[in-house]
Amino acid sequence: MSIAVIGSHGQLGTDLMHVLGDEAIGLTHADIEITDPASIDASLDERSPNIVINTAAYNLVDKAEEEPESAFAVNAFAPLNLARACASRDITLVHVSTDYVFGQDAERTTPYTEQDRPGPVSVYGTSKLAGEHLVTAGCPRSFVVRTCGLYGNATSPGKGNFVRTMLRLGQDRDELTVVNDQRCTPTATADVATAIAALIRTDAYGLYHCTNASDTTWCELAQTIFEIAGLDVTVKPITTSEFGAPARRPSYSVLNCDRLTSVTDVTMPHWRDALTDYL
Ligand SMILES: NC(=O)c1ccc[n+]([C@@H]2O[C@H](COP(=O)([O-])OP(=O)(O)OC[C@H]3O[C@@H](n4cnc5c(N)ncnc54)[C@H](OP(=O)(O)O)[C@@H]3O)[C@@H](O)[C@H]2O)c1
Repeated sequence: MSIAVIGSHGQLGTDLMHVLGDEAIGLTHADIEITDPASIDASLDERSPNIVINTAAYNLVDKAEEEPESAFAVNAFAPLNLARACASRDITLVHVSTDYVFGQDAERTTPYTEQDRPGPVSVYGTSKLAGEHLVTAGCPRSFVVRTCGLYGNATSPGKGNFVRTMLRLGQDRDELTVVNDQRCTPTATADVATAIAALIRTDAYGLYHCTNASDTTWCELAQTIFEIAGLDVTVKPITTSEFGAPARRPSYSVLNCDRLTSVTDVTMPHWRDALTDYL
């Protein structure tokens, strides 16, 4: 089986390349431009993969508020291009999405299942939700995998990840303030890559939630990072409105991953164990 990984130099793409080994064909941004149908056609015709995994995205959540056209081009219309190109070649498409398709239910306190109605609160979340629908409509043999708060070993320039940012800030400061009213499950890309590798061995196409287990807040996560890394940094909780980011975030976007486990037998590790392994 040959599996093309789009975004192979990104966080998740790098771990997918590692987990898939010899079956993987890496496609970097230099190899393919997913907003350009001609580039997709040329890449697929040259490599003839059986499966395409799309990890490419416009991920800059705050900047997306000012650049909705760019966010929708990469997160919605490009996945439709991919879905059409894959469907016409009998290729299975795996598309990666986000917990930020939720957020409108401010009272929510139980993990969202795949059956729950999404309701994003940001341009990024809306563009990713549109991408989910367009992939599902455009390619009958498709998996859509929602995940959350990714951290991995590769980081694209200017993006980084929360864990690395905390470690960097913790070198210079002995006190930080971090948001404590957004509950979700930050997730190691290594675990998502393992889950996707198992999912593509099935033909149980459809929507899946895929995060590490249990849940936390960014403040609790930061405290745990410093505890595991042995750094003496005091992390003080603040609210989302005190932080004042341009884009709204869900106050609760914990995902129930039971469907993934029932189809693949993959049990996602607890977020604390995943973080310990990563650090
Ligand atoms: N990061 C998170 O916290 C998070 C949370 C939930 C869901 N997700 C989703 O998980 C997926 C993977 O995220 P990630 O953190 O691994 O992303 P990432 O590290 O930013 O990697 C994405 C890769 O895609 C490439 N790319 C971007 N635009 C492209 C385009 N138009 N055509 C071709 N390649 C393009 C990027 O290359 P360049 O950098 O060279 O442009 C980069 O190598 C995305 O779908 C994202 O929405 C991420």
